[in-house]
Amino acid sequence: MRNATLWLDEEGQAIQAHGGCLLQYRDQWYWYGEDKDADNLIGCGQGDQTPFRGFSCYRSPDLVHWHRMGFALAAEDVQEKEGVPPDVVGERPKVVRDPVTGRFVMWFHLDNRAYTLARAGVAVSDCPEGPFRLAAVRHPNRKDVRDMTLFQDPEGGTWLIHSGDWNKTLYIARLDDRLTDVTGLYAKAFVDQEREAPAALYWKGTYYLLTSGCTGWEPNTLLYGQSRELLCGWKLVADPCEGPGCRRTFGGQGAHLFVAGNRPYLLLDHWNPGRLRLSGYSILPVLVNNGVLTVPWRDEWSGLEPSPLP
Ligand code: DGJ
Repeated sequence: MRNATLWLDEEGQAIQAHGGCLLQYRDQWYWYGEDKDADNLIGCGQGDQTPFRGFSCYRSPDLVHWHRMGFALAAEDVQEKEGVPPDVVGERPKVVRDPVTGRFVMWFHLDNRAYTLARAGVAVSDCPEGPFRLAAVRHPNRKDVRDMTLFQDPEGGTWLIHSGDWNKTLYIARLDDRLTDVTGLYAKAFVDQEREAPAALYWKGTYYLLTSGCTGWEPNTLLYGQSRELLCGWKLVADPCEGPGCRRTFGGQGAHLFVAGNRPYLLLDHWNPGRLRLSGYSILPVLVNNGVLTVPWRDEWSGLEPSPLP
């Protein structure tokens, strides 16, 4: 699959899994994301958008061949629910598995077309492919939620990491035991740095957060931050991208960091602002050497790289 282009599923249809995430369950990979398979709406609020169709799910044994499983969370299961505006926008779905109940829990950015509601939707399913059912609309710790991700910390807990304070600051908020609400424990990172599109990684004793700046659908500079503690000590470090277009994230924006075959990878969206349904993707290896994180460009994504020596 050529990076930074539209990717096709097994049936030759454009993969609609924007702003998404990858989850490994048993011997399969699941890719959840925004289904934007509609013409852009014109004059609908903040920049270009598509009508909310729901979040799709694709399944693959190898992260290359993708089979569409349908909608994980369909628009009909969100519209007209309590707390959901009529002009609902749903972005950046992230799914984790609750290790205790075995249920799959999805959090996503739930908003109106002016992006002034800034809430989180929470949906649950017994099966990885769905159907997910909307369980709640959250205003976690009374903070606004825009771009967000979920992070399962190997050191303990599952965390909602979201842009708040009108995108000025990132919040890191602990989820409760059922992963459907926050606990009240939270911290700020990158105060007043205006970072969004968060993606998180824990690697050999250090936490990393990759974020973009806030320029709508236009690419900007990816930055990584690092800390030895999840709740404090965050420093913005550098642009990790290496290769052509590196100062603008290769024309993309981070969607998710995931670990496969004992290596971290970064999933990017390549937004096509005027025709969002034609937005593309990249998957790039993430290298961490002595605490320095880099994301080298690759023209092709052809599956997992060989595992590094231990
Ligand atoms: C940038 C965000 O990262 C996207 O998820 C989306 O909200 C766009 N802004 C909307 O302009």
